[in-house]
Amino acid sequence: MLELRDATKTFLPGTANEVRALRGVSLRIEAGEFVVVIGTNGSGKSTLLNAVAGMFVLDEGRVELAGHDVTRWAEHRRAKLIGRVFQNPFHGTAPSLTILENLALALRRGQTRGLGWAVSRRLHDELRERVRQMSLNLEDRLDTPIGSLSGGQRQSLTLLMASLVKPQLLLLDEHTAALDPKSADQVIRLTEQIVRRDRLTTLMVTHSMHQAANLGDRLVMMSNGQVVCDIAGSEKLSLRPEDLLARFEDIRRAELLDETAADMLLKSYV
Ligand SMILES: Nc1ncnc2c1ncn2[C@@H]1O[C@H](COP(=O)(O)OP(=O)(O)OP(=O)(O)O)[C@@H](O)[C@H]1O
Ligand SMILES: [Mg+2]
Repeated sequence: MLELRDATKTFLPGTANEVRALRGVSLRIEAGEFVVVIGTNGSGKSTLLNAVAGMFVLDEGRVELAGHDVTRWAEHRRAKLIGRVFQNPFHGTAPSLTILENLALALRRGQTRGLGWAVSRRLHDELRERVRQMSLNLEDRLDTPIGSLSGGQRQSLTLLMASLVKPQLLLLDEHTAALDPKSADQVIRLTEQIVRRDRLTTLMVTHSMHQAANLGDRLVMMSNGQVVCDIAGSEKLSLRPEDLLARFEDIRRAELLDETAADMLLKSYV
């Protein structure tokens, strides 16, 4: 379970470049829920995920994760509970280490250091099986350095690493945006497979209306540092990409108005 209460963050406060990136966001996500986040550029999606991961401390508000009040926890401490995949396939894996070494590192998340490097035969076989299940044909290449793989293969392995030790929360920030369409499809299929199989509580940011309409149990739309739309249940199930585009257009129009007027308009979506 993840709960944000009145999460507020202003970057560069008091300067000409001040940005109110989160304006009192409250959001509760139940254990096992798969939530997709969409919104225009700069609407605060990444800031929301970063606030949860602890990249910065909120100006105001509270973050609760799996029964812990993590509001004041440092990023590395929260990392024991959170798996993350970013947009950039170069982020999240150690390029000079092999697939097997990267996976062995991922297994150590949340554990104390000093377990040693040795990968036992049994562990090797287990990891090989996990890679085989992804249907990437990489199970016979476990000794290949990750840096020599394609972006899609790397993102798939990053996803496996992020979920190898079941996280309390999986954060995906446009993790398919830098991939070609075929690789993106493959990573999305894998995402669904892993999230559903392990019932992972998941927050996934995307710019793809197709993904937003077809994936997840719930859809959250952000605009101007606020949640302006939250769709779940049967309404989410019947949502089509065209419906989303129409809502998006309404919000964009609202954003063009002055802030007060936009606020009033946006409130009608909450
Ligand atoms: N570290 C930072 N310092 C200053 N401003 C920041 C910082 N991080 C984000 N911002 C600003 O906060 C606002 C929200 O940014 P954020 O990255 O959350 O948007 P986003 O919804 O993820 O956009 P995109 O779709 O482009 O990824 C933007 O105006 C951005 O410029
Ligand atoms: Mg972003």
